[in-house]
Amino acid sequence: MAELQEVQITEEKPLLPGQTPEVAKTHSVETPYGSVTFTVYGTPKPKRPAILTYHDVGLNYKSCFQPLFQFGDMQEIIQNFVRVHVDAPGMEEGAPVFPLGYQYPSLDQLADMIPCILQYLNFSSIIGIGVGAGAYVLSRYALSHPDTVEGLVLINIDPNAKGWMDWAAHKLTGLTSSISEMILGHLFSQEELSGNSELIQKYRNIITHAPNLANIELYWNSYNNRRDLNFERGGDVTLKCPVMLVVGDQAPHEDAVVECNSKLDPTQTSFLKPGKLTEAFKYFLQGMGYMASSCMTRLSRSRTASLTSAASIDGNRSRSRTLSQSSESGTLPSGPPGHTMEVSC
Ligand code: BEZ
Repeated sequence: MAELQEVQITEEKPLLPGQTPEVAKTHSVETPYGSVTFTVYGTPKPKRPAILTYHDVGLNYKSCFQPLFQFGDMQEIIQNFVRVHVDAPGMEEGAPVFPLGYQYPSLDQLADMIPCILQYLNFSSIIGIGVGAGAYVLSRYALSHPDTVEGLVLINIDPNAKGWMDWAAHKLTGLTSSISEMILGHLFSQEELSGNSELIQKYRNIITHAPNLANIELYWNSYNNRRDLNFERGGDVTLKCPVMLVVGDQAPHEDAVVECNSKLDPTQTSFLKPGKLTEAFKYFLQGMGYMASSCMTRLSRSRTASLTSAASIDGNRSRSRTLSQSSESGTLPSGPPGHTMEVSC
């Protein structure tokens, strides 16, 4: 495993008073499936896992995760963790286009590259955050290396292989749509796309004009050829670590995430719709013993207290933990006590 390249950059994040700029360092390592690039922010914290992210198709680590990691409320979380942001091969900024006939790794092979990254950094465990294809890659890695994954945040995951109906629909769409439109259809709902907001225009522009669009198509093909993860609740093939499943309202993958939730261990799985992802992530880390309640907002602390008491009232911790969230104000009506955790937004 040879190191190919190391680049040091200083992030231009706006600094809070008294803060020193965090240095980000980009590395590439050689793996049995080709080279992979990743960027490390922060310094390793003793006895803490690294947060490792994996982005979706059509994006890279920055376009996928910068909005979340630079969000104000996220700062108190990330200062406690070193972060490793993986770019799928050929997705890193300035990546050259792969030569014609290049065999792009399957999603399973992308997962098999992760041990090379951790070995290079000498990190023994991670909390993974993955979106779409990246969520699949991290799940596959967690299935094969359960002892190294302390927790997973899976956003818009589809754990199923495409069925023949999906393939037929995909082929039909391919006749009338460009690759970039198909990828936008994977990233956003039809409502969002037809609304054509500034955000949609920005991502359409990024993807359509990406100099590495040919590489993006290869990652897209690997995603569409994924195998079924075959999760089985109570079976051998399941995620052993705490999992936070996240799906957007009307997201293209809403049904797939709901089905995934039904197949995972309910004692280990939280399911929420975004709105206050950062706050939910704090609860998640706190549940794993990594966030002191003093780091949480007063509101969060009072909610945590009531959630804890709900758990002790029904005396049953083996339940599906659903964090129902809405971007509208107000707390959603809940299901039976003890089955639904609510976080009002
Ligand atoms: C981070 O602080 O981990 C981060 C900064 C910029 C982009 C993505 C992540």
